[in-house]
Amino acid sequence: MKVIDLRSDTVTRPSAAMRAAIAEAEVGDDVFGDDPTVNRLEAVAADRVGKEAAVFVASGTMANLIGVMTNTRPGDEILLGDQSHIFNYEVAGSARIANVQAHALPNADDGSLDVVAVAAAIRPPNIHAPRTSLLCLENTHNRCGGAAIDVETIDGLAAVAHENGARVHLDGARLFNAAAALRLGAERLAQECDTVSFCFSKGLGAPVGSVLCGSNDFVTEARRNRKLLGGGMRQAGILAAAALYALDHNVSRLEQDHANAQRLAEGLRDIGPFAPNEPQTNIVIADVLQGDLDSWLAAFAAAGVLAVPFGPARFRMVTHLDIQDSDIPEALARVAQAVGAHAAA
Ligand SMILES: Cc1ncc(COP(=O)(O)O)c(C=O)c1O
Repeated sequence: MKVIDLRSDTVTRPSAAMRAAIAEAEVGDDVFGDDPTVNRLEAVAADRVGKEAAVFVASGTMANLIGVMTNTRPGDEILLGDQSHIFNYEVAGSARIANVQAHALPNADDGSLDVVAVAAAIRPPNIHAPRTSLLCLENTHNRCGGAAIDVETIDGLAAVAHENGARVHLDGARLFNAAAALRLGAERLAQECDTVSFCFSKGLGAPVGSVLCGSNDFVTEARRNRKLLGGGMRQAGILAAAALYALDHNVSRLEQDHANAQRLAEGLRDIGPFAPNEPQTNIVIADVLQGDLDSWLAAFAAAGVLAVPFGPARFRMVTHLDIQDSDIPEALARVAQAVGAHAAA
């Protein structure tokens, strides 16, 4: 039985064509700036999000950490959403390594932050207070069901931060999903943000890697921080080749993942004991209305459908490059069978 792995869009395996691109990559020592494939990737990635420069890093977590470190000074305060990836899933790296204090504001269901709350949270200069130097946004928003936050909202939040002397970092791990859903260029979504990160190893199907993009000066400093974290890589062109392949071949197909997520959510709703979101992109989050989450996940897994827990009574399923259109009805049939077996028991 083929396992339909919907745990994350990070589970994709490089295709034969991507592996060929990896095998053929021209490489050099990237810490010396000598890797032509990394250099090309950084130039292409910066251009795709409308920034002057980019630095290739190992992961989205590292991109965000370096983004926070480079945009702040120790003892500063950062504002971010209480549902954000940086706040929930990055091992408090901002506190432990960047030495900043996180002030979390409630995320709305659509992943946005309230502009008035952000303005109110930015501290005026005062000898007693930390400096509020950075606002972190996330688009698409993972814990808010892959919500694509519209450009007016991003621009409005960035304007409030800038008016009050704070910079803006956009965690765009799935920025191209947001761009596809909103039918806008990724560079437009990131336009008013000072720095932006995005991942090649999620919906874009590469095995490793993210980039952090911003001005030339910012990226020069970010490279120092990458080195500090042990993230200077040598013949990283073999990874950059996969990322370049992903940008060339796997961006324009993201809408297919979004359509599959919609069909998945509709099917789950019809099956009964689950209340899924209406996915804008590739993330389905479903509340469990009856029965126990762990038992459902175990029953799905036994039927060859993998999902992850996403709260005490909530699971997540993510569509991606290795999910074929035909996998959706098959996954739904298996889930329906598991539900039927549960009802009969
Ligand atoms: C929104 C968001 N930001 C950052 C990350 C971190 O990426 P990585 O797993 O590559 O460290 C993730 C991972 O899922 C994410 O969803």
